[in-house]
Formats: sequence, C-alpha cells, structure tokens
Amino acid sequence: TASVLNADLSKWKEWLPLLEKARVERIQFDIMDGKFVQNTGVPKNVVKELRPHTKIFFESHLMVEKPEENVREFAQMGSQLLIFHVEATAKPKQMIHMIKDAGMKAGIAVNNKTPVEKIFPFLSESDLALVMGVDAGFGGQKFSHAALDKVSDLRKEIDSQGLSCEIEIDGGVNADTARKCVKAGADILVAGTFIFGHKNGIAEAVRELRND
Ligand code: DX5
Repeated sequence: TASVLNADLSKWKEWLPLLEKARVERIQFDIMDGKFVQNTGVPKNVVKELRPHTKIFFESHLMVEKPEENVREFAQMGSQLLIFHVEATAKPKQMIHMIKDAGMKAGIAVNNKTPVEKIFPFLSESDLALVMGVDAGFGGQKFSHAALDKVSDLRKEIDSQGLSCEIEIDGGVNADTARKCVKAGADILVAGTFIFGHKNGIAEAVRELRND
C-alpha cells in the first residue's frame, strides 16, 4: 500500500503510472482533522480526483475525532475501504456497520500507544486491522519496534478466532522493518516516505519492500 501523505500531490500524473507499473496494490489516503492528530493530512477531494485515473484499490485512513461524519462521502468519492481509529469512537461496532452499509470494506486502526487487545472484540466484523508503527499524524517517523509484538499478538488472535481479517502495518515501514513486519504476521505493508522518497525511485523502493 502506498501512502500518499508525503507524495507531491501536484505530480500525481507522474507517479500514479509508476505505482501501477510497480504493481502497487493499494493507495492509502491519510485524512486528518488537526484534532485527533496535529496535522492536516491529504485533502479528501484527492480521492475523488484520482479515482477515475486508476484501478488501484483505494483505502482512506481517517485520523479524525468524528469518523462517523465521513462515511458516506468517502464511499461516494470511490474509497473501497475505510479505516477508523478505535480511539476515536465509543461505538466501533456501529462504525463498522455504517462503513459496510455504505458499501465499503471496514478497517479498524490501533494507534502506537494503544494496547492491541482494544480491537480484539471487533476483529470478527472487520475486513482489516491497522497497526500503527508510529504515532499517527506524520510520515517519515522512525518505526517503533513494539508494533511487531502487536502484529504477532494480533496474528495469534485472528488465527485463534479463525477470522479472515487482514493485518496492515503503517508508519516507518522500510526495506528493513518490512521483513520484520511480515515475519511477525502482517499481511499488508503501508509505506509513504520509503516509496516516494527512495533515491532510486518508486519501482526500486517497491522491489525492496517486496524483497524481490
Ligand atoms: C501516519 C500515516 C502513515 C504515513 C506513512 O499517520 O498514517 O501512513 O503517511 O508513514 P511513512 O512515511 O513512515 O511510511
């Protein structure tokens, strides 16, 4: 999954074909309200702007205090999966149902300092569980290795419950941490800075992440 938080959004006509050529399977749009996290993130209409230009799977990561206010709009803009933070709602089950009723897959995220057990009760209804490798809000941060334990605990819980919920890891993912995350049980890697900031370009960055 390529996170476009730190991409030059004015140059999407250049990098979108490169993501497709590199067989990147998902694009993640980091949506922020400046309250849940102290940053503004990707303008939400970028989802709508890019939608007609690619078949790549779109997921939107809501780092906002009121995720329930954003559901319909993201479905209409063409987001196929919507991720909300367990810390941002008192009613995660209702959020999951709202997202599915709007026709999207549902993802639940756990921030860096939140125990991963917090999302265990919701895994059976979620299509994806997102473990943050950094404190949500900014790209380019250093991976917190405690996230590896959360990924493996989540892997054990999902396997013991016999669930199909996918594990995605997000924040500080690079060629080195990617391997550790996969070994810990992650199914999907999100990378922003590593992909868009790689000195040898997008294709090489993706190859390194895939350990091709
Ligand atoms: C941080 C975002 C991450 C970020 C990617 O709140 O959720 O997706 O854009 O992080 P890096 O740049 O570390 O891959």
